[in-house]
Amino acid sequence: GTVALAFSGGLDTTVCVPLLKEEYGYDDVIGVTVDVGQPDAEFAEAHETADALGVEHHVVDAKAEFADLCFDAVQAGATYQGYPLGTALARPVIAEAILDVAEDEGCTALAHGCTGKGNDQLRFEAVWRASDLDVLAPVRELGLTREWEIDYADEKGLPVEAGNEGEWSIDTNLWSRSVEGGHLEDPGYQPPEDIYDWTDEPTGDTETVDITFEAGEPVAVDGKAMEPVPLIEYLNDLAGSYGVGRTDMMEDRMLGLKVRENYEHPAATTLLAAHDALEGLVLTKDERDFTEDVSQQWAQKAYEGLVDHPLMDALNGYFAETQSKVTGTVTVKFEGGQARPVARESEHAVYSADAASFDTETVNGIEQADATGVAKYHGFQSRLANASKPELKTD
Ligand code: ARG
Ligand code: SIN
Repeated sequence: GTVALAFSGGLDTTVCVPLLKEEYGYDDVIGVTVDVGQPDAEFAEAHETADALGVEHHVVDAKAEFADLCFDAVQAGATYQGYPLGTALARPVIAEAILDVAEDEGCTALAHGCTGKGNDQLRFEAVWRASDLDVLAPVRELGLTREWEIDYADEKGLPVEAGNEGEWSIDTNLWSRSVEGGHLEDPGYQPPEDIYDWTDEPTGDTETVDITFEAGEPVAVDGKAMEPVPLIEYLNDLAGSYGVGRTDMMEDRMLGLKVRENYEHPAATTLLAAHDALEGLVLTKDERDFTEDVSQQWAQKAYEGLVDHPLMDALNGYFAETQSKVTGTVTVKFEGGQARPVARESEHAVYSADAASFDTETVNGIEQADATGVAKYHGFQSRLANASKPELKTD
């Protein structure tokens, strides 16, 4: 039979190729690389490696679909422990695309090169196990270590160069760049500046940018309409040049492991900050409070790779309602590595200049003196309770 392998051309997926034949008995392996906005060099590397392995290689462009999901995350205001979920959101998109190829090519199985310690195995398999195909995870099932993989690749003359696998394990897509492993695993180790590729070290320079939203979705930058993919790419470049969007964190993985992670996500940080500022203008306090909870639930399921979970449909229904008002423009200032909203405007603002101003006397028939009754009652129950409070025993 033939197996479709999620293929990046990195060490893990490269050693999977001979193992799927020798250890699992498959005749053919099809390598599938899904484009979710990785750097071009990664496709060239994947292609060359596949060629050298004699493996049929497919590249599927899923950027537009992935960008739409990233914008769902903006509407949901979703981050997991501060991480904007780039890898997490990409996995179901990648898994679906590989499943499609596998079905088209008559494959009987699907394989990934994830370890048994991470989140990605769970995210891939959550999608794949809904199909009839067999699911294989050689690195996990054969208990491989990186060291063993390097020796094996060496012994077999597999095409893994030092360039393929540097000091760190890196995962890049439109929404975030993740760097982990090596020295970075030590929570006490300060990352050197050269782990960063998307963000420059902040300087004293500043710049402002206007971001326009329609129903919670970013649609224009500085008044210029842009499609999601170029909009994200543009902001990654711009905000990244001001050092915006670095996260260095301890992440609680699904299996319970705490792992040190470093991320870069300039566009995500900018868009999430702008979106939050606009919500502050157009949503009521009650909606804003409740949205925090809904947002956290959305982020949790997204982290788990379960964007198709029925709960997500329900949460998305909530966002469809609140986001209908999130239309307007936010000015964001890049400054000292931060993306700080400095102005916002919307036709749906729940804001009345007259009502808030100290200079106006009567608004909607309500005048200042009307608050006297409210002020008399405020704290009433607390005063009653305190008056009848028992003495605290001190013995
Ligand atoms: N821990 C992150 C997540 O689960 C990202 C892991 C990315 N992988 C990597 N090799 N850097 O979403
Ligand atoms: C892996 O363990 O294969 C990568 C990291 C992750 O899945 O969280």
